[in-house]
Amino acid sequence: MFRVLCVGGGHVGLPLSLRFWQAGNDVTVLDIDPGKMEAVRRGVMPFMEQGCDQVLADASRSDRFRAMTYADSDLDGEIAAADHVVMTLGTPLGTDYTFRFDQYFHVLDRLVPHLANGVTLVVRSTVAPHFTRNVISARVAAARDCVPGRDFYVAFCPERLVQGRALADIDDLPEIIGADDPETASRAEALFLTLGRDKVIHHVSTVEAELSKLFLNTFRYTLFGLANEFAQISEQYGADLYAILEAANGGYPRGGIPRPGPSRGPCLGKDTATLAFASTTGLIPHAAIKTNENLVIRVARDLSASLGSLVNRRISVLGRAFKADTDDVRDNLTDPLINLLDREGAVTAVYDPFVRGCDDVRVLQGSDAVVLMSAHAVIAGWTQDDVLRLTARRRDDLFVYDLWNVWPWADRILGRGSDNREDSGNGRVGLADARGRAAPA
Ligand SMILES: NC(=O)c1ccc[n+]([C@@H]2O[C@H](COP(=O)([O-])OP(=O)(O)OC[C@H]3O[C@@H](n4cnc5c(N)ncnc54)[C@H](O)[C@@H]3O)[C@@H](O)[C@H]2O)c1
Repeated sequence: MFRVLCVGGGHVGLPLSLRFWQAGNDVTVLDIDPGKMEAVRRGVMPFMEQGCDQVLADASRSDRFRAMTYADSDLDGEIAAADHVVMTLGTPLGTDYTFRFDQYFHVLDRLVPHLANGVTLVVRSTVAPHFTRNVISARVAAARDCVPGRDFYVAFCPERLVQGRALADIDDLPEIIGADDPETASRAEALFLTLGRDKVIHHVSTVEAELSKLFLNTFRYTLFGLANEFAQISEQYGADLYAILEAANGGYPRGGIPRPGPSRGPCLGKDTATLAFASTTGLIPHAAIKTNENLVIRVARDLSASLGSLVNRRISVLGRAFKADTDDVRDNLTDPLINLLDREGAVTAVYDPFVRGCDDVRVLQGSDAVVLMSAHAVIAGWTQDDVLRLTARRRDDLFVYDLWNVWPWADRILGRGSDNREDSGNGRVGLADARGRAAPA
C-alpha cells in the first residue's frame, strides 16, 4: 500500500482519493479551497456525486485520510512522505481556446522543493499533447537537477469517469497508463492495481495517453454534434428522430447513433476546442462545437417563432447544471441561452433544484414558456398538470419546449418533427400521429 498525495480535491480528485483510501492506501487530499477542505474534514461532500457521501463520512473518521490546504503547517512533511503524487487540477480553457495550466504551475512551484527522491508523479487532468513530458518532467528535472525515469517518475493516466457515476467508473474502467520508460510504467501501474488486482491496464507513451483522452472526448462530442444535426434535419422533414434511432440502431451492430440534447460541460467542449485549435484544419472538431453550441440559437429562434416575439415574454429555463442529476454548472448551455434570450428582450428565470440561487420554483409563476435544458429526474417526472400548476398558467397560455424527449405532451421536442408529435392538447402545434404509432416516451 502507498502513501498518496492527491492534489486537487474536485470532481475527479475527491472520488479517486476516496477509492485509493478504501483500497488501503494512506491518502492526503490537498486543495487550495479552504471551504472545500473544511467540508471534507467534516465528512461532507462539497458537490453531488453518487455514493460518495457515505464513503467520505467513513474516510473522515480514519487516520489514513487527511484533507489539507496550503495553510497546514505539516504540509511540507506530507509532500515529502508521498510515494505517489496524483494531480487532478483543473485545466480550464483560456480565451485563446487552449488549456490554462496556471493551477499546475502554482502546484509545481510549491511542491517540487519538498518531493522525496524516487517519487512518482501522476498527471490525471486532461492536458495538451506533450504537457507531461515537456512541462511536468522537464520542470522537475530542471528544478532538482535530476533525471526522470531514474530519480523521479512522471506518468500521465487520464481520468475517463462521467460525473454522477465516478466511483463506479473508477472501479470498472480500464486504466490507460502513459509512461516514457518501463520503470515509470510499472510504478504507476502498481498504484492503480491497488484499486483491484484484476484492473485492465493499457500501456502507452505519455503523449499517446494524452491524445487518447482528447480523442475520446472529441469523438463523443462530435457524435453528440451529429445527433443534434440529425435532430434539425429530422424536424426539417417533419420526421421523428427518436423513431429513426429506434429503427436505425435497434439490433443493428453498426448503429449507435446517440440521442440529441444540450451537450457541453467542463470536459467535452473544452477538450474538443483544444484539439480543434491544435490541428491545422480541425474542421470536424470545429463543426461539433458549432453544432452543439448553436443549439441555443435554434432554441431562441423556435421560442421567438412560437411566441410571436421574445420581447417582454417570460421564459423559464429548467436546469442549469450541465448534466442531469448533478449540481455542476460549469460550461453549461443554460447560461448562454439565458444571455441570448435576455439580449432579445425576454424576461428570463432559471430553476434548478440542485443549484444554490436557482432553487426557488416560484420563479416559474406566470411563464409564457418553459424550456427543459437539464433532465434532472425530479423535473423529468413532472406531469403536464405539475407544470401548469407551477407556472399558474392555462395550457393554451404556455409553450413547453423539451430538449430531452421526456415530456410527450410538450409543444415542441428537440428532434421530433411536427408530423409525429402527440397532440399536446393546446391546439397550437401538436398533430396526431399519422402512423397510429405510440410516440416513444
Ligand atoms: N469532471 C469530470 O467529469 C472529468 C472527467 C475526466 C477528466 N477531467 C479533467 O480532470 C481535471 C480536473 O477536473 P475536475 O472536474 O475535477 O475539476 P475541479 O475544478 O472540480 O477540481 C479541481 C480542483 O483543484 C483545486 N485547485 C485549484 N488550484 C489548486 C492548487 N493550486 N492547488 C491545489 N488544488 C487546487 C480546485 O479548488 C478544485 O477543487 C480537468 O483537467 C478535467 O478536464 C474531468
